[in-house]
Parts: sequence; structure tokens; C-alpha cells
Amino acid sequence: MQNKIAFYGAGNVGATAAHWIANMELGDCVLFDIFGQVAAGKALDLYQAAPAIGFDAKVIGSNEAGIIEGADVVVVTAGVPRRKDPETGKFPSRDELVKINQEVMEQVSANIKRYAPESIVVVVSNPLDAMCHVVKHVTGIPRERVIGQAGALDTARYKTFISMELGVSVEDIHGVVLGGHGDTMVPLPRHTSVAGIPITELMSEEKLAAIIERTRKGGGEIVGLLGYSGYYAPAAGVAIMVESILKDRKRVIPCAIYTQGEYGYHDLFIGLPVVLGRNGVERVIEMELDETERGMLDHSANAVRSVVEVLGY
Ligand code: 2OP
Repeated sequence: MQNKIAFYGAGNVGATAAHWIANMELGDCVLFDIFGQVAAGKALDLYQAAPAIGFDAKVIGSNEAGIIEGADVVVVTAGVPRRKDPETGKFPSRDELVKINQEVMEQVSANIKRYAPESIVVVVSNPLDAMCHVVKHVTGIPRERVIGQAGALDTARYKTFISMELGVSVEDIHGVVLGGHGDTMVPLPRHTSVAGIPITELMSEEKLAAIIERTRKGGGEIVGLLGYSGYYAPAAGVAIMVESILKDRKRVIPCAIYTQGEYGYHDLFIGLPVVLGRNGVERVIEMELDETERGMLDHSANAVRSVVEVLGY
């Protein structure tokens, strides 16, 4: 039987993730969105691309949440994205979105609980770490199956900037970004290499510091250019997670996971390296961190905690 992947939200990120995932033939894709016929329209359009590209995946869409029933994976992108306020001209931070999107996420979670309680939920909506809390709290799904997509994106951005600077293939760059999905995220230069060569041997400290800063502000840079959030890279982050889950690849990808003692944190979603397989998060990998790295991760955890407190659970 084909896997079923549901996209809860058929905006830019949801529809683009469906695009990658259908093309990768990870399973049949269903798109849901409350707005008019947007999910049905995008799904039909994507389905009609199948003969040209040659992928075998059914793609259907609806504005009825029941379409997600029995999905193996539910990708949650619903919520209000970062958009320029037409009056002030300012962009809300991810954290300012918390209250608005908490309400949306509570409705989403109620539908997941109703229609797909056995699914693995990949959360993308912002503020990411807090939205994971809402999904876990409302659905009661065990922590192995509520996973936040952020580290996959942040790490991809980090690697892209390194590749741009060094003029080497992205494929040979290894690195990891931990922590919350926000300005306090923690890229780890000590654990970054190019084909096994430590990055610190290939780049000056100043260059690396600039890349780290650009990675931290990576989402905002795209918002500044487009006027709304990016979607190709966030959707690609989703695709590699879903692939590792459905093919049981056991890839090691930094994801937001509900900690239960790992790295000394309890009951807090934060980005850590995890092994992703058919059961969702199969293992959290504990890395040795030096004092500076530990301090940055603690700082990031505190930032996440302060947003989670706003939820009032
Ligand atoms: C980003 O960082 C939208 O959170 C997403 O681009």
C-alpha cells in the first residue's frame, strides 16, 4: 500500500513540500486548506505534472479536513506567516505570531487527533518550537511522533553559505545547527567540516562568524527580499525528514524534539540531532558540547521557554 502524506495547509510551504515529496515518490499526497478551493486547485495542478515529470503519486486536495484521515505523516504548515504590516511597514517576529498561531494550531491539532491520531506529525508553523508544544499538548501524541522542522532548514542555510564562500559542493559540507528556530539558534563550527577537513582550517574566524550571523537571520533575509516567508528551503527540509521517516533511512537530522532529560532539558521542544526512521524520532544523539556551545544552547533554550510560557499550558 502506498504511503499517505497529508499537508495541513496548502500555502507556499505546504504546496512546495508536496511538490518535492510527490516528485520523490514517497507516497500519495493529500492537501488540505480552509481557504476556498486552493488545496484542490494546487493538488490538481501538481497531479497534472506527473505524466510530464514521470512520478507515480496521486495528489488530491480539499477544504474538508477529513481528507487527512489515516495519513502516515501529516505536515503542518497552517498558520499566519511573517508578513509586512501594511500600516507600520514592520515585520512581526516569529514570537509575535505565537498567540495568533496558537489558536490555529489548536484547531489543527483537534483535527489530527480526530482523523490521523497514529500519524507522525511534522510541524513547520512558526514560532516553531512553541507550535510543536501546542500540537503535542492537544493531540497527546507521543513525543517520537511530534517533530519540528527547523534544524534541517537552518543547517541547509548554513551549508549553502559555506558552499558559496568556499566554492565547494554542498554535498561535501557537513555541519549541524541546534537550538530553537530563531535568532538564538546554535550553528556549531567545531562540528563543521568539508569532506572531513575542519571548517576552521578553511575559513577565517571573521568569515565564519559572518556566516553564522547570516544563518541565524536566514529566515528574515528572505522575508526582507520577498515580503513574506521563504518556502523552497523550508519545504526541502520537510522533504528530507519525510523521506527518512517513510523509507526508514535513520538519517541524523537536527529536529525540534520534546526533551525528557536530554542535554539536561525537560519538557521543552528544542532542536537536537535525532535519528529519523519509520517510528519517527528513534533516538536523540547527545553530543559533547564545550562551555561556549553549552552556553549558546542554554541561551536558545531560555528563549524558547519564554515563548512557550506565553501559551499558558
Ligand atoms: C524560515 O526560517 C519561515 O521559519 C521559516 O524561513
